[in-house]
This record gives sequence, structure tokens and C-alpha cells, in this order.
Amino acid sequence: MNIQKLSSLAVDAKSRSILSLFDEKSRASQFSISAPHLFVDYSKQNINKLELAQLIAIAHEAKLSESIDKQFNGEKINNTENRSVLHTVLRASKEHQEKVLGEKLAHEVAEAEQQMQQIVNGVQGGSITGCTGKRFTDVLAIGIGGSYYGVKVGLSALEHYRDLSINVHVIANVDGGSLEEKLKKLNVDTTLVVVISKTFTTQETMLNAKAVKEWMLSSELAQDSNSNTSLDFIAKQWFAVSSNIEAVKNFGINEQHILPMWDWVGGRFSIWSAVGLPLALAIGNDNFAKFKQGASDMDLHFKNADFESNMPVIMALLGIWNRNGLEYPSLAILPYAHSLRALPGYLQQTDMESNGKSVSNSGKKLDWLTAPVVFGQEGTNGQHAFMQLMHQSDDIIPTDFIVALKGRSQYTENHKVLVANCFAQSEALMQGKTLAQVEVELIAAGCSQEEVEFLAPHKTMKGNTPSNTLVMELLTPETLGSLLALYEHKIFVQGVLWQVNSFDQWGVELGKQLGSKVLSVMDGAEDDSLSASSKGLIARFKQQS
Ligand code: F6P
Repeated sequence: MNIQKLSSLAVDAKSRSILSLFDEKSRASQFSISAPHLFVDYSKQNINKLELAQLIAIAHEAKLSESIDKQFNGEKINNTENRSVLHTVLRASKEHQEKVLGEKLAHEVAEAEQQMQQIVNGVQGGSITGCTGKRFTDVLAIGIGGSYYGVKVGLSALEHYRDLSINVHVIANVDGGSLEEKLKKLNVDTTLVVVISKTFTTQETMLNAKAVKEWMLSSELAQDSNSNTSLDFIAKQWFAVSSNIEAVKNFGINEQHILPMWDWVGGRFSIWSAVGLPLALAIGNDNFAKFKQGASDMDLHFKNADFESNMPVIMALLGIWNRNGLEYPSLAILPYAHSLRALPGYLQQTDMESNGKSVSNSGKKLDWLTAPVVFGQEGTNGQHAFMQLMHQSDDIIPTDFIVALKGRSQYTENHKVLVANCFAQSEALMQGKTLAQVEVELIAAGCSQEEVEFLAPHKTMKGNTPSNTLVMELLTPETLGSLLALYEHKIFVQGVLWQVNSFDQWGVELGKQLGSKVLSVMDGAEDDSLSASSKGLIARFKQQS
């Protein structure tokens, strides 16, 4: 049995109603899993025990356990870049770090952790200040992609744990408008800047970093001071997280202020490293440690639980069932929590940059489709927007609902309504409403026969949309860590079964190359390789500038 055969295995499921599966009275409890900090009810998926058992058999046939061990033990599973994939080691015990990394590298990891903790303590405690001696009130983190999304999702999710004396801002987009918007809120002498870039060559990050540097150095304060103080702005207030030490130093950042990134931690899995510095500055060292602990708890569950009760494995298999068996092309991520509003964007990168591929890790064209199109928004906002399509178009969009049982705000009634809507939407997407049901309702509402005939088709809902409901008691650093690790592992398992290398991202390279080419044509270079369409657009741009 392989992925290609899943479509025929799902023939029955394609015409089956999910509701009918609930004839099995214990379905809800049988089709759910508890893991550290999280619970998932997947009983609203269109799958029965036999089909799930066959999927689990596929995972065994694919030697998934061996692949999991390979990842955790540091084998070079990122084979196109000849790299290990060891973000998990950053949140593991010291013994495990030493075992996997060896003494020297484990020591480097510990040193980086310490350096990060000292910066956080120093900034929060006031011993690390700006160059005029004032305490830092703001942190500006500059980075993009994996050097941005993790920080962003952590900041909003853990807002409740934030040190209120420090505001942390993140900037990724190269749009100058976004930079101006941030800089308006900041003062040069009380802003700590962290540039996060593994390569320290990424166009957007470097442009933003240069612009911020200029903003600082051209400020009245820097201009008024003597030249030494002016230089101090960068030397004292700037930090970098990068593996390109030379480039960081050339930029003018103090060598003591550079925190490392290693090639065995991929950008989109790097929040557990020093990339998390801006988050740690916001929530403090203890909470950052708890965040990593939550992820580590999920790692242990993933490594040790049988596949039948293994949350990442089961969620991965359900995703493959929906994608290759039932042939649904997308996945909606709907957190019913304002604080998880950045999660869909974060998961778009982790999922689609990892598994959005069509050749196997040995370079052969795949005979099956891989990553779904991931999208989403915080609930309930999505209900009043794209969820219309989810209820009534012919596309079935499998969904992950994510919700915390306890809210944080004083508005307890609001929280109850939020949770009710979450549960109700999964029910509505599954139950739908048949033509006959609508007709009965319309007749009961006093509609004429003619009105019933006209309106009923407009009011039917297709139903039969599968979903997971992921539940946490309360959104805490541990829960968030566990949630992000869950999706990391889910994506990894899917990569193993789809046979792709989930850890490279060559697809973004062409855009980068053509970006430079277009820029040079805008600056006057000749290039015949661009299409007439692009040349025309460039000409329009030039006319305006
Ligand atoms: O989007 C491509 C990518 O290479 C990501 O993988 C990475 O997270 C991002 O760009 C930023 O790269 P860097 O950290 O080198 O600036």
C-alpha cells in the first residue's frame, strides 16, 4: 500500500456521511488523543477504524520510527543541503544535547543560551541600557520568514506574560511604509535592535536594517553627540542572531552582541534558538524556558507514544488521508483565540515551505500531491468572511479548530460565546443542512410553496467537512510550545510519507534571483530574458519615478 493507492482506499469514504460514523457510540472517545498540554478530538474526520489502521500500516511500512530516530539523533536527513535537522535538541535535556551534539557543540548551545539569558536579564533589570544610559523601552526585531514568524506568533500568543515595561516590535516586510509605521513609535536612545538573519544577506532584512541604522545615526541625538557616542548607538544597542559572523561585524555590530545560528536548525524551526531573543525579552527567561519545556514534552510524546495514540502521527495521517485519499486540496487553521491570530501565517510557512514539493528526496517526480494550501484566521472573524465558501461551495476544506477552554479576559461571557462558536462551526461543517431539512424549516416559518422551492436550494449546506478540534486548558508558554512542536512533527511525518525533503526551500530561490534581475532592469540594465509583460510593468514604474 502506498500513497498513490489511498484514493482507491477512500472510495467508500468519498460517498459516506461523517455523521453516520457516529453510529458507533464510543467514537468521540475512541477518536481522540491526549498528549502533553493538548487534547485532540478527531472524531469528526471522515475515517473509520479500518482505514486508520491501514494508514498506520503505511507509516510502519515507510519505517517512520526509523526516520523519527534519524531526525532526533542528528542524521543528515536534509539531504539536498547535507544537514542534520536538530531544532529538537535545543529544547532537550543537557544529557541528550551532549549525546547528540558532542561535548563541544553542546557547550556552544549552552553558551548561546546563557548569553541570551544574560541579555534578557540585563535589559529587563536595567544593567544593559542604551548609549545615553536610559533603560530600553522598546525592542525592534528585524527578520523575515523563519527569522520572523516564530517571534511574531510567540509575541501575540504570550502577550499576557509580557514584561510591561518593554514593547517588542517585529518588522519583516521590505515595504518602507511598514518601517515608517514602526519607527514613528520609537525613540533612538531607548530602542534595542535585534537583526535576525541566518545568512545576513537576505535582501529585505538587510535593507530594513540599513534603514534603521540610518534612522538612528541621523537622529538629532546622534548628530548632536560627539562622534564616539554616535558610533555607540550601533555598538551598544544592536544585537544580531546569525551564522554569518563576518557580515554582521562588517555591518558594525559588536562581536560580543552576536548570537549564533547553526546550519542544523532550519529557519522555520528556529524559534527555540537565539532567534527567540525578542520573544524572551518580552516574556522573560523563565517563561521562555517553559515555552521550550512544552515543546520538549511534545517531543517525548512523539518519540515514545505508539502511533495509534501519537498526536503528531495521527494528525499527519489524517492530513494525508484528506489530501491523497479524499483529495481535498486545502487545510484551514482556525484558532478561536485572538492571541493565536498569528498562528495561521506561521503554519503557512512551516507547512507549505516544508512540504510544498513535487520531487522525492532522491529527485524523482512524485506520483502524488503533497502539502495542502494552508490558510486561516482567528475565529470568529472567519465565520463572517471566507467560511461562507466552506459551508456552501463544492470544495471541502478540512479544518483544524484550536481553542482554549479557559480565557484570560474579564469578559467571561465573551469567552463562552467564542468557545460555543468554535464547537458549533465544527458541528455545522460536519452536519450541513439537507434540502429536505431546509424545506421543513421554511414551511414551519410560513413560507409559500413557491418560496420554499425558490429558497431551499440557497439555504442548504453541504456538510461532511472533516475537522480536528485541538483543545488546551489555557494558553500558556508550555501549551504554545507543545502546539508548535505538534505541528512541526506532523509536518515532518507527512514529509517522510510523501518522501520529500521537508527541510530545504529551493522554491524561494528563483523569486530571489529574478527579484535582483528586475531591480537591475529598473536601474537601467538591459535584459532580454524578461517577458514583454514584465518589461511593460517596469516601464510603467520608471515613468512614475
Ligand atoms: O524564505 C526563504 C528563507 O530562506 C527562509 O527559509 C528563511 O527563514 C528566510 O528566508 C530568512 O532567511 P535569513 O534568516 O537568512 O535572513
